[in-house]
Parts: sequence; structure tokens; C-alpha cells
Amino acid sequence: MKIIDATLEHDVKFANKMEKVRADFPILKLNVNGKPLVYLDSAASSQMAQPVIDRLVHYQTSQHANVHRGVHYLSEIATSEYESARQKLQRFVNAGEDREIIFTSGTTDAINLVMHGYGRKFIKADDEIILTTLEHHSNIVPWQMLAEETGAKIRVVPINDAGELLVDEYEKLFNHRTKFVGLIHVSNALGTINPVKQMIALAHKHGVPVLVDGAQATPHMKVDVQDLDCDFYVFSAHKMYGPTGVGMLYGKAKLLESMQPFKGGGEMIASVTFEKTTYNTIPHKFEAGTPPIAAAIGFGAAVDYMLGIGIEEIHTREMELLNYATELISELPGVNVIGTAPSKTSVLSFVIDGIHPHDIGTLLNQEGIAVRTGHHCAQPVMQRFKIPATSRASFAFYNNRSDVDAFIAGIHTVQKFLS
Ligand code: ALA
Repeated sequence: MKIIDATLEHDVKFANKMEKVRADFPILKLNVNGKPLVYLDSAASSQMAQPVIDRLVHYQTSQHANVHRGVHYLSEIATSEYESARQKLQRFVNAGEDREIIFTSGTTDAINLVMHGYGRKFIKADDEIILTTLEHHSNIVPWQMLAEETGAKIRVVPINDAGELLVDEYEKLFNHRTKFVGLIHVSNALGTINPVKQMIALAHKHGVPVLVDGAQATPHMKVDVQDLDCDFYVFSAHKMYGPTGVGMLYGKAKLLESMQPFKGGGEMIASVTFEKTTYNTIPHKFEAGTPPIAAAIGFGAAVDYMLGIGIEEIHTREMELLNYATELISELPGVNVIGTAPSKTSVLSFVIDGIHPHDIGTLLNQEGIAVRTGHHCAQPVMQRFKIPATSRASFAFYNNRSDVDAFIAGIHTVQKFLS
């Protein structure tokens, strides 16, 4: 009895703490179409907490100048804040050194950097690149461009009906021509958490480096790049309660050093003459031009904010909401959840018999409910399930059970009008 009381007390405290956290997000107080906003599209882009907004305002109102270029007060302070954001990101993913963290404009830019910097240098005709059916287009198209240019081949890991990667099939794809693996950590279309640690170890048995697309993982769970032993890990700030326009690439220092630059320009050089340019050391070799200084500092603040709540707490809250929503939606006739892996996080994709996902999204919007509809930049996943699109509700720790209840009521309304 006492144990039950203690659990209940803990649950109530936890729920109260999370309601307080929700109040940090000014945008959640909006009304949309006359109804309170129910924001269930955080997998596309999450909202920003007031302390992160305040940090951006403070930077712009009292710290802004260009970085690494001046000896004046503001330039020094901007440089030190920018580099301190890099160190925050280093600690966040437990990278061994801060020079292993490269600021990019986002996940897509980071993957393109690796394709150009590593792929174009080391991958040749008839070499093979392994990708998975679950990849976002951003981890497919750059590698296809490389394959077209070099004559390399793409091999694809299949999934089962629950949306899980078939690891046995993955293992069978390796041979002496395999030169690179690209893996999504958490599927943006289905929410499946992939066994990336095991898959990285398998690739390393064959001496093959692995890039992990962590865009949908870092907002929801603890990531330790040294524990995973991945060679590259990429993600974006705007899915982690930070600003758009910035993301990061983690790369093992040795690999980054061996790579060619992606973009040329200021800051990435050691010396320039018209005869020859020599390049700067990492991370600067990969940060040509003026970097997204304000956004990077905001990224650091977003990471501080997440750590202040606790990554475990964030994960627990989101799992609670996902399980609650899955339970309720599964009871509705004519609704099918797409992506039913036991190991999932924060994404609920579904289809409704006879109703196009676009119409579902449009009607939900009239109720003030934001979900994403479409192929989620993961067309191979849609092809695997033989559907053109899904509707997708995605949860963040600032959502609550009332949001889920409003969403389920919205689905009832959709079915009433359109079935
Ligand atoms: N990749 C983002 C999503 O899944 C945009 O919605």
C-alpha cells in the first residue's frame, strides 16, 4: 500500500512538474481557428521555451559580432559564447573533444558534408553503401547523388510489418565492396528506435564507418556517441526546442581530419595564395564563412534547457503520452497505426479507411490541432506499406493528456464528417 502511495505521489509530482514546464512555451497559449492550439507536430519542428528565446534576445542585444575575426570586446565575447555552445553540444553527446563538433545548417547539411567530405574522397565505382528503408530522404538522396557520380551502388536494409529493421538481412549485405553505412536512429515516419549500437558494431567488424542520423533521437533520448561508437552522428536544433538554421555533425577526429572540405571560403583556410590554399584544422576546416552564431548559441541554450528538465524525464513523459494516444486510437474502428514496433518513441503515424491523410490534417486544423500529413520525406517507408501517405501526431514533453484527448476527439469529428 505504501509503495502504491509513493508511486502515485511520484506520478502526481511528475505531472505537476511537466505542467509547469509547459508554461515555458508561450506559443502553446495560442488559439487557432478559435480553439486552443494542440501542437502535435514537434517531429517536424518543436517549439521554443522562453529561456531559449531570452538567450537569443540577450545575445542580439548585448553580445553580437562576428566570431574568430576581431580583437574587440564584442567579437571576443561572441567567439567565446559560440565556442562555449560547441562545448555544450560536445558534453550533450559525450564526444571526446570539442573539435569533433562541427556546426552545420542542420541535419541535411551535415549529411551532405559527410557525402562530399568523406564519400567523394573515399568511395569509388562499384563500392557499396548500405542504407535502410527507414531513412529520411536527407540520408538517401546525397548518397544517390554520390552513386551517380562515382558508379557506387546502394544496398537497402528491409523492414518488417511492424516497421523494424531486419538486422539479419543487414548483416548479409556486407561484402568486401561495402564502404559506408547510413542509419537513422529513430524513424521520423514511424517512430521506431533502431538498434544502432548493434548495427554499428556489425559494420565495424567489416571495417566500415557508420553515419547515424539522430534528428529524431536527440530530442527524446540520451545519446552517447562514444558508447555507440558511431563514426558520424548528425542532428538539428529546431527539433530540440532550439532555433532553425543550425545543426551539428559529430565526427571522429581522425576521420574528420582525413576528409576534404565541403565548402570553401573564409575561416576554413590556413593560408591562401592564387597558387595554393592550405586548410584550417578541424572543426574550422568545415565551417566556411560566417557561421550561424546566434542560432548556435541558441542551440546551446536549448540543450541546457533540456538538461534542466532531464532527458530521462523527457523520455518518460513522451512515452506516457505516446502509449496513452496509441491505446485510445487503437480502439477506433477503421483506424490503423502504421509502425507498431515495441521499441518506439514520440511518433504516432496512422491511416483511416477511406479518408485521405490530407483531409484528416485539414479537418484537425479546423479544431486547432496541428499534425503532419504526407510521406514525411520518407517515401520508401510509404512504398513498403503500400500507402501514399500517413497522418502523424508527434509528441514532445510539453504536450499533455488533454492534448491527446483533443486529438482523439478530433479524429471522431473527422470520421463523422468524412467516413
Ligand atoms: N523531417 C521532418 C519531419 O519528419 C521535417 O517532419
